[in-house]
Amino acid sequence: MSRGDIPTIIDGSNRGGSRGVGEGRSSMIDAWIDSLYRFLSNVGYAHPLHPAFVHMPIGLVMGAFVFAWAALLFKKKALAQSARYCAILALLFWFPAMLFGFMDWRHFFNGAWLFSIDMKLVLAGILLVLQVIGLFLGSKERVGARSLLVVYSLCFFMVVGLGFFGAQLVYPSRAQATPEQYKAGERIFLANCSACHPQGGNVIKPDKPLINSPKLKDLKTFIKWVRNPDPPMPVYSPSKVSDQEAGELYQYVVHALERQKQPAP
Ligand code: HEC
Repeated sequence: MSRGDIPTIIDGSNRGGSRGVGEGRSSMIDAWIDSLYRFLSNVGYAHPLHPAFVHMPIGLVMGAFVFAWAALLFKKKALAQSARYCAILALLFWFPAMLFGFMDWRHFFNGAWLFSIDMKLVLAGILLVLQVIGLFLGSKERVGARSLLVVYSLCFFMVVGLGFFGAQLVYPSRAQATPEQYKAGERIFLANCSACHPQGGNVIKPDKPLINSPKLKDLKTFIKWVRNPDPPMPVYSPSKVSDQEAGELYQYVVHALERQKQPAP
């Protein structure tokens, strides 16, 4: 199958229209977000932004945590001051991390309300509140206060939780190892599909699982579906998943994923 005969809705020409992937999404903001990702992908960056950026707040929350405990342990006020600087920077970086998370969610998950997304929002909200509390508790004269240790430690647990649910979105736990020849397809599946179709199910529409789907009848039917699925499943244009990758994906879904569910006959 050549590229030309696959309908591609995601490219700019159809984007503003009433049909297609934009359905049900607040189209102005999403169109803007999608055009930014399209630009990035044109210059060679086709990945989500949040995972690349999120190390900033995470690292700084860790820094505040470690410095604050070290200050207590070694009775060094300077270390407590370092903890405070980390905490302030961590608070500043909360905002872009959140913005990129929102953009990735709209673009890569089509704004779907997944359990891990809910959990991340709750944890991020608590983290922000804790960070603001820390900002006031740690003002100049109280920079080494014990109560700060509690706040920084709680922040630490929030980012651990955020990391856990972030990983859960990308790498849901798997019961069985995948045979070597399907590893390429598995990678594509984990990067694009598994958040909504963990273990071949469907978290948005449980009655439409990937496993045993009629869309898996043959490769052609499968590619046709991923290029132009029913919303809210996002469209996968050839720039996101090429025909060759779709083929590998198909092999993985049919031979590895389906096998895990039902023992081979
Ligand atoms: C944002 C969530 C989401 C993502 C990501 C997603 N899907 Fe879907 N998928 C859905 C939903 C929702 C449906 C049901 C659509 C409908 O028919 O109403 C669906 C349906 C399907 C079906 C047809 C099931 C049936 O029998 O009706 C297949 C096949 C499928 N998805 C494959 C994939 C593949 C392959 C990927 C990755 C390239 C993927 N999906 C990524 C949400 C998603």
